[in-house]
Amino acid sequence: MGAVFSADGASALTSRLRACSDAVPMYGIDFGTSNTVVTFRSDGGTGLLDLGEGGILPSLLYFERDRRPSVGREAMADYAAALQRWKGKGELYSRFRFFQAIKLALKDPWFEGTRLFGERVRVEALAAIFLREVKRRADEATGGDERRLVLGRPVVLSTEPSVDERLEGRFREAALLAGFEDVAFVLEPIAACANYAGRAGETVLVFDFGGGTLDVCIARVERDGIEVLASTGADLGGYLINEDIARSRIIGRFGAGGKFRTMTGSYLEIPGWIANQVASFYALPLADLAKTRATVKDLIYDARPVDKDKLRGLVEFLDRNLAFELFNEIDEAKIALSTEQGSAIAYAIPPYIEFREELTRPELEALIEPRVISARSLVESALAAARLEAGELDRVVRVGGSSRIPAFTRMLETLFPGRVEEGAVFTSIASGLLEARDRGLQVPRRP
Ligand SMILES: Nc1ncnc2c1ncn2[C@@H]1O[C@H](COP(=O)(O)OP(=O)(O)OP(=O)(O)O)[C@@H](O)[C@H]1O
Ligand SMILES: [Mg+2]
Repeated sequence: MGAVFSADGASALTSRLRACSDAVPMYGIDFGTSNTVVTFRSDGGTGLLDLGEGGILPSLLYFERDRRPSVGREAMADYAAALQRWKGKGELYSRFRFFQAIKLALKDPWFEGTRLFGERVRVEALAAIFLREVKRRADEATGGDERRLVLGRPVVLSTEPSVDERLEGRFREAALLAGFEDVAFVLEPIAACANYAGRAGETVLVFDFGGGTLDVCIARVERDGIEVLASTGADLGGYLINEDIARSRIIGRFGAGGKFRTMTGSYLEIPGWIANQVASFYALPLADLAKTRATVKDLIYDARPVDKDKLRGLVEFLDRNLAFELFNEIDEAKIALSTEQGSAIAYAIPPYIEFREELTRPELEALIEPRVISARSLVESALAAARLEAGELDRVVRVGGSSRIPAFTRMLETLFPGRVEEGAVFTSIASGLLEARDRGLQVPRRP
């Protein structure tokens, strides 16, 4: 039996469930855009699982021919080693692949799959590779082979019900392909609500702002359960903010806004989509790059001298699968701005590109102001759906990594002065999945 540990609210959950006599063994997986967290229930109680690198596993997948795929920090280390090992070896897509935010691909109705070393792989199968590895690690920690699963999902996969159903089907299929047999879904913020042990009679709003989505739910805590009054969500998360930063500060370093000479001798602007690839962090490693690479190479020939190296750097960026490296720099700089007033994104692709982009907190706040406005209207729409005024809420619980961004915290404080608190930022969804299911709060199975 490996390490089973409780953290944050999980100990309270454990004690409540210990009293439960029909403790059927099962996993709860919060399959996040950025991080994945697993809980396990057995006769001994319920707790977060340590998957070999702590309870929070980065949702990353490294893939190389003829070896077991790796996930989490192990995948990150394999990726860094691969970049070193094959330095200067040109097109690296044929040697290794590295995927981030697979959940965003799974919930993208327009995305079907990718080619992996020449073979077509559907997105469900790709997500299954990640989930199978998560299950393998979880089974290793528990010494079992559990097939029952409660899987979190964002409140809204699509505003079109039939598309939402199709996309939920993708999540189910990925879980089945990964080796699970019985899969129930719980909406992510509802899991956090179930995990939140409030006092009877309280009305609580959960603001779950993660890497891919912002999910909100409002619930009334009753003596014998919780009543969900409203839940809603939007495609707004840390990834989008990182893309905002990349578009405004980084893509210019890769040729955006540059010029090339046409056959008639006049100059035209380099098409926007070309350097925009740099900001497509999750989509780029999944894309077929042959055409893009050919277009960029053609452009280098006709580009102004000042733009040539930027485009050469872009080709390297594409060929060497560097999206995550740059993404990570941007992510770290953004996270630092939650506690500091200034930070910097330093990045180089020698000998073509080298820069240090300073970013202050006020600059970031100006950039993400539209996102704060969207988040506020989502909260207001949840209040309207619950037929409540902001003043009627007793407590607002912030969870999800992006909920630490001061501009969003301030927005919540303005709406709910003195009633906003931070929950277990990275673990509250996973900690509440099983309890939410016990309380009958799972998504009804469609006929
Ligand atoms: N202190 C911080 N300040 C700002 N952003 C942060 C901070 N810590 C983490 N983040 C951001 O939070 C996100 C990850 O949060 P989390 O793990 O809750 O997301 P997730 O559950 O994987 O995503 P989702 O639930 O949307 O699928 C990342 O975008 C990361 O950049
Ligand atoms: Mg989440």
